[in-house]
Amino acid sequence: MKFGNRWIMMFSRLFIPLYFVLCIQTTNGQTSCPGDYTIGEQNTQSKKTDSYKDDTVNAVLNFDSKYKFDCCGFISKWEIFVRKNPGTLNVKVQVWYDSGTIWTLRGENDITATDDNKENEITISTGSRIRVFEDDYIGFYEYAGSVITYGNGGNNYKTATFASNETTYNWTAEALDDKRDHAIHARITQSQIPTFTNLNDTVAISNNEVAGTVLFTLDTFDSDPEDAGLLTVAHASSSGSAATFFELDSTTSEVKIKSGVSLSPGDHSMTFNVTNPCSRSSSGILTIRVENDPPVITSLATNSSTTISEDLTAETLLHTLTVTDSTPTTCQLDSTGVPFQIKIISGSTSKVF
Ligand SMILES: *[C@@H]1O[C@H](CO)[C@@H](O)[C@H](O)[C@H]1NC(C)=O
Ligand SMILES: *[C@@H]1O[C@H](CO)[C@@H](O)[C@H](O)[C@H]1NC(C)=O
Ligand SMILES: *[C@@H]1O[C@H](CO)[C@@H](O)[C@H](O)[C@H]1NC(C)=O
Ligand SMILES: *[C@@H]1O[C@H](CO)[C@@H](O)[C@H](O)[C@H]1NC(C)=O
Ligand SMILES: *[C@@H]1O[C@H](CO)[C@@H](O)[C@H](O)[C@H]1NC(C)=O
Repeated sequence: MKFGNRWIMMFSRLFIPLYFVLCIQTTNGQTSCPGDYTIGEQNTQSKKTDSYKDDTVNAVLNFDSKYKFDCCGFISKWEIFVRKNPGTLNVKVQVWYDSGTIWTLRGENDITATDDNKENEITISTGSRIRVFEDDYIGFYEYAGSVITYGNGGNNYKTATFASNETTYNWTAEALDDKRDHAIHARITQSQIPTFTNLNDTVAISNNEVAGTVLFTLDTFDSDPEDAGLLTVAHASSSGSAATFFELDSTTSEVKIKSGVSLSPGDHSMTFNVTNPCSRSSSGILTIRVENDPPVITSLATNSSTTISEDLTAETLLHTLTVTDSTPTTCQLDSTGVPFQIKIISGSTSKVF
């Protein structure tokens, strides 16, 4: 099929590319790409229209270091050189990674070029960008016919014939061909640094607070919509007895009091970090000020009474006091002229008197 100018103009006007991104895998220890970065062949001006020896080929994995991502970021623009008089201007531009026994499609953008016989720049809107990781490769799937040209450079590549839209493929099983520089490159935008929106902060709590109490909920922000739900929050370091007293629930981002601890008054600081899949991160400090509140006798919440015989002469336990304080507490008897005394029960480790 031949592309007349009328068709090309129509394509320009109807330029509504469809995108989708899949298989977001969290990979640790990524190097973030610099601000503006390009991976792939930039200058293939070849206008070759030859098809492959095997005409059924419709999928290519560019298996050369030139097309291999060495950093983590978002593809914000694709540039392809479109052959003359292509049968279609639609092509799926893809990113693949070796996931072990098979290769997995990291993501793809189903783009529609505007001009044949020219370099086409296709901008991918924020929210639909593919996040690439180190060691991912550029591929493409010409599901409706050949679109992208190549030059006779020195680059390695693999070809396949996809029967349908594949999301996994055993590229390892395909033979390596060489000397074709496919006219495709990706322009990468740097992943933005996530932040805490409510740190640094200080919260004051009573030393009478109990285990499991939620003291604070960390709130994060990342200006890349693709990072939604993919931020990791961690407790990085602490001062005072913070690590002993408090813990982060990394699922809910809540900071809670650990069980079985006695809170001691003072400032205890925790440093948290928030990290996105490109390993970009920032940190913030939460200071927990434990105040020394007066202890409360809980066993005498209502006036209690005990009946004893007036003939009693042996020392007899009349009541065991329970107090709410974790710090060392002393008890004294305020009433005077009564035949009672207050004592620590021998061998007692809890605060009973
Ligand atoms: C593959 O994707 C293209 C574009 O989204 C679509 O037109 C085509 O029907 C799909 N093929 C199959 C076999 O699902
Ligand atoms: C992929 O191909 C390689 C090489 O032929 C083979 O060793 C491997 O088992 C294949 N993987 C799967 C999942 O079939
Ligand atoms: C939080 O406190 C640390 C240490 O004082 C400081 O370096 C950092 O800039 C503060 N962060 C904010 C957002 O104020
Ligand atoms: C965030 O904190 C965790 C836990 O201490 C640590 O393993 C990780 O390296 C920290 N990340 C950054 C980017 O500081
Ligand atoms: C206990 O009794 C005393 C003396 O009658 C009274 O002053 C006090 O309010 C009572 N406390 C409670 C908790 O009922």
